[in-house]
Amino acid sequence: MAKVKPLKPRSIHRCQACGHVEQKWLGRCPACKEWSSLVEEIDSAGHAAPRPSSTGVADGHAPIALADVRELSAADRLSSGIGELDRVLGGGLVAGSLVLLGGDPGVGKSTLLVQALAGLCARSAGRVLYATGEESVAQTALRARRVGVDSIAERLSVVAETDVERILAHATQLRPAILAVDSIQTVYTPLLDSIPGSLAQVRECASRLMQFAKTTGIPTILVGHVTKDGGLAGPKTLEHLVDVVLQLEGDGGPYRVLRAHKNRFGSTQELGVFEMRGAGMAEVENPSAHLLAERAIGAPGSVVVASADGARPLLVEIQALVAPATAGLGRRTAAGVDGNRVSLLLAVLAQRANCDVLDRDVFVNVAGGLRLAEPAIDLGVVCAIASSARGRAIDAKTLVFGEVGLAGEVRAVPLCEQRLAEAARLGFTRALIPVQNRLRLDAGATCGLELVAIDRVVTALNAL
Ligand code: TYD
Ligand code: MG
Repeated sequence: MAKVKPLKPRSIHRCQACGHVEQKWLGRCPACKEWSSLVEEIDSAGHAAPRPSSTGVADGHAPIALADVRELSAADRLSSGIGELDRVLGGGLVAGSLVLLGGDPGVGKSTLLVQALAGLCARSAGRVLYATGEESVAQTALRARRVGVDSIAERLSVVAETDVERILAHATQLRPAILAVDSIQTVYTPLLDSIPGSLAQVRECASRLMQFAKTTGIPTILVGHVTKDGGLAGPKTLEHLVDVVLQLEGDGGPYRVLRAHKNRFGSTQELGVFEMRGAGMAEVENPSAHLLAERAIGAPGSVVVASADGARPLLVEIQALVAPATAGLGRRTAAGVDGNRVSLLLAVLAQRANCDVLDRDVFVNVAGGLRLAEPAIDLGVVCAIASSARGRAIDAKTLVFGEVGLAGEVRAVPLCEQRLAEAARLGFTRALIPVQNRLRLDAGATCGLELVAIDRVVTALNAL
């Protein structure tokens, strides 16, 4: 009797380091001896159809002159009705694009997604297909009602499905205006033996969804979790594949920051700010004013910095508390800023600025639960710590920014004028800025602020 050919295409294991192919998974590549480098994939040799290009861009078209290529216009973008989100997307969701919305578990990805889908759906004639592998249909409906999307509930179809082939079958049948998959870590293709969430599955499923988006023109949004260790099988793996990578961040407080880490259709400098409320994510149009609203004026250890992670400056309060050590060694606790950076700045303060608090407990916090990663906030951290250590409050209408070097020097930062303009808008009167920034500034660009040029940390502490 003739042997029946298995229906399932074979899967192989390819070494990510040297490209060696094995039939079964091995802990170590026999060719290059690299550990855990073999990743499962579908054997393209066994298929009649050619393997699609890794970007999913349609093959087989004749070359075309650049002049004949139509430019992306506003009509190609669909607005979500959420201004902060549209801006980060570069003006709306582009037809046929694949967007990855990443972030820590619980940060509000599904909430923002369902709100965005409602807005997008309201502005298009079609339906939306929301495939959820994280929650049941009932849970998804509950959330959707909570954030008030009743007006388009008729056109929002939810399916609790994790098989990517079946999700695509539903999408092909329904022809939605937008497809959303929450989350990419829960979907799988039965063509691979690896478990959902593994590198092989995440990559294969995302690439299937990418081809779907590119061939149908249906914009597709994927939700992805960032794993604690940066996540090999997490969104990092997908960054080269997708068109847009949005990252939703929050550090405990009610505020969430949305950034574009990659955007093939817009700038990566934009920033969207939201507040998580009882009925979903609310846009924060004037984030600086919000973040400074509850400031403890006149209290030592509080200073306002102008942060500009991206093109949009934000005024944020940095708080520090220096207290006697509870156990022998001084402890450092940092929320919203990098703990290692705080340790470095404490050493600079002790060695270069005569403010030694190394044997005390030091707590540093960014008010509002934001996470600040740019070096321009260094001077703020230093000033807040010194202010708390000395018990002297910093003037409420003074703002600081600047990068601090190991020699105790204060270095120039980008976007000085934008930071000053934001400060002036919020009623600040005085700013301590790096000397090099002061020198480069045009005479008329002071925004009406009294500017104090700072070359060293010591100068800043004396000027406060
Ligand atoms: P969720 O969107 O489920 O997060 P993710 O998809 O990123 O894992 O939201 C997580 C948290 O947000 C949850 O703890 C409850 C809270 N939440 C609100 O505060 N208000 C709301 O309207 C909703 C829907 C959720
Ligand atoms: Mg979720």
